[in-house]
Order: sequence, then structure tokens, then C-alpha cells
Amino acid sequence: MRRNLQNFTNLMLPHVEERVQQMKRKQEDPDLDWEPPNDFITWHVEASYRAKSAYERIPYVICERLNVMNLFAGHTSPLALSNFLIDFFKLEALTEEVERVYAEECGEDGQWTQAALNKLVRVDSALKESFRLHPLGLKSVERKVMGAAGFRMPGDLGTVPKGSVVGLPIWEVHQDPDNYGTDAARYDPFRFSRVIEAAEASSNEGSGLLHARRTHAATTPSAEFLHFGLGRHACPGRFIAVQLLKMDIAYLLMNYEVQPIENKPPILFQNLALLPQMNFVLKVRRKRRAGEM
Ligand code: HEM
Repeated sequence: MRRNLQNFTNLMLPHVEERVQQMKRKQEDPDLDWEPPNDFITWHVEASYRAKSAYERIPYVICERLNVMNLFAGHTSPLALSNFLIDFFKLEALTEEVERVYAEECGEDGQWTQAALNKLVRVDSALKESFRLHPLGLKSVERKVMGAAGFRMPGDLGTVPKGSVVGLPIWEVHQDPDNYGTDAARYDPFRFSRVIEAAEASSNEGSGLLHARRTHAATTPSAEFLHFGLGRHACPGRFIAVQLLKMDIAYLLMNYEVQPIENKPPILFQNLALLPQMNFVLKVRRKRRAGEM
């Protein structure tokens, strides 16, 4: 891992250095015939110049930050999509939802909007259920104990000393029957959307419905759902991650037939990380459009 991060930094460094130089030149000479590309590197360089400490502006440090973002943002979503595809089965109800919402909400230019994606309640639920059963690791919400007196555990569990790193056992929390009932270990794609749809049917946009939507959304962390962490440091990228995953799934369902996997491959345990099997084969076939041979 360390070597890969170093390789990435070495690859990025000349690009970041060049961008910093060009952006400085542009600042000194606004007529310069060059515009900074509207991309992640420019945003990071701009953010580093807004920071108080000059340390943040060192190109190497910018690269290291890009590294962290790349790791957080680049690997988590593909893993989530792989897990979802493994869980994938009997998705007619999802396809029906995707096609209905697309026809109702994306008519004019055929583009998904945030409002349309928010209406994919069943896709959201199936994704959340997949998140629940496939956490990225065995530990979530890792925190370092900072107080000099340490951290007093509830009951008679004692005190964790300053400097220790603690975390929550996400696997156990997500499979606890007290949190998810006796079928906690079962993949039930509509576990969360059922509650929202029941609220929709009964309360008609009232506060009960809002509460159901907020509580059961894939982006809402809670003591029972730790996939995106919890509290102040809960994943800030979760909103974009879930919307992007919904777009991936919508595209797949509208354009491809996917053969459900008969026997789900077991999760791969690598130290504390939980990964989908990398060698499973998923059979997909492009859907025929009307008039196509
Ligand atoms: C399915 C996709 C993703 C998953 C499962 C995920 C999961 C997590 C988790 C578990 C944490 C730690 C939260 C905590 O300690 O309480 C975290 C932190 C973070 N994530 Fe994500 N993440 C995802 C996507 C993204 C994306 C797309 C971005 C950026 C665009 C992102 C940016 C971050 C950042 C910057 C942090 C650190 C937050 C802090 O320490 O205050 N993540 N993520």
C-alpha cells in the first residue's frame, strides 16, 4: 500500500508542480492565454492557497492529499458496486422503478437530476442493504483517544488510555437482531423502502414520511448503520457516492440484462478489510431496443 501511494505521488508530482506554476503565472498576469482546467487538481491547489499554513501549499503535500481523496473516493464506490452486483437478484422491481422515474422525471433532455435520483427509493434501499451486509472493514468509526484521562468505557469495562485507537465493530452492529430483527443476516433489498412506501401510503407528505425518508436513507448514518461512519467525521462524500451509484445502477438496469448469481461468492477477509471476490463472473447482455435485430 505504502509503495503504491509513493508511486502515485511520484506520478502526480510533476503535474501538480506545473499546475501550481501556471496558476501563479495567471495570478500575476490575468491576460495570460491559459485557463486553469476545472478539475480536482485545480480545486486542491486553490484550497491549499486559502489555507493559513504554507505547509499546505507544498506540491508534495498537495499530492499526498490527492492520494487520500483518491483512496477514499476512488476505491469505495467500485467496491460498493461489486458488492451490489453480487447481491443483485430478482431486480424486476428495481427496473420498474428506474424506468418509471426516468419516464416521469427525466423526460425533456433524458438526464438524471438530483430530484429524480431521490425518487429511486427502492434502489436506495437495495444499496443500503448491500452496504449493511458488506461493510468495507470489520472496524468503523475509528477514533484516537485524546483526553489525558483516557476514555471511560460504559459499565465496568474500564478505561482506554490516551493515544489508543478505538473503533466500533460494524459487522456485529449490522447483523445484530436487536437492530435488524431475526432475519438480520438475510439480504432483503426492500427492507428500508417498505417502511418509506408504507409512510407514503399513509401519511401523504406529512412529518412521518419525512422522518421515514431521513431515517432509512442510505446516506443517513446512525448507531445501527455505520457504513459511512458516524458523527462529525462521518463520510462527507456519501451523498455524491450514493447518487453516482444510483446512476450506475439505473444505467445498468435500463440498458442491460444481468443474470443473477446463483451462488453468492463468500466475502474475502483481508486482515480487517472485507472485499468482494475479485474473480466472480457476471453475465450481462445488452437489451435489444425495438426494431433492433
Ligand atoms: C461507497 C462509498 C464510500 C464509503 C463506503 C465511504 C466510507 C467512509 C467512512 C467509513 C469514513 C470514516 C467515517 C468516520 O470515521 O466516521 C469516510 C471518511 C471520509 N470519506 Fe468516504 N466513503 C465513500 C465515498 C467517499 C467519496 C466519494 C468521497 C469524496 C468525494 C469520500 C471522502 C471522504 C473523506 C474526505 C473522509 C474523511 C472525513 C473526516 O475525517 O472528517 N468518501 N468515508
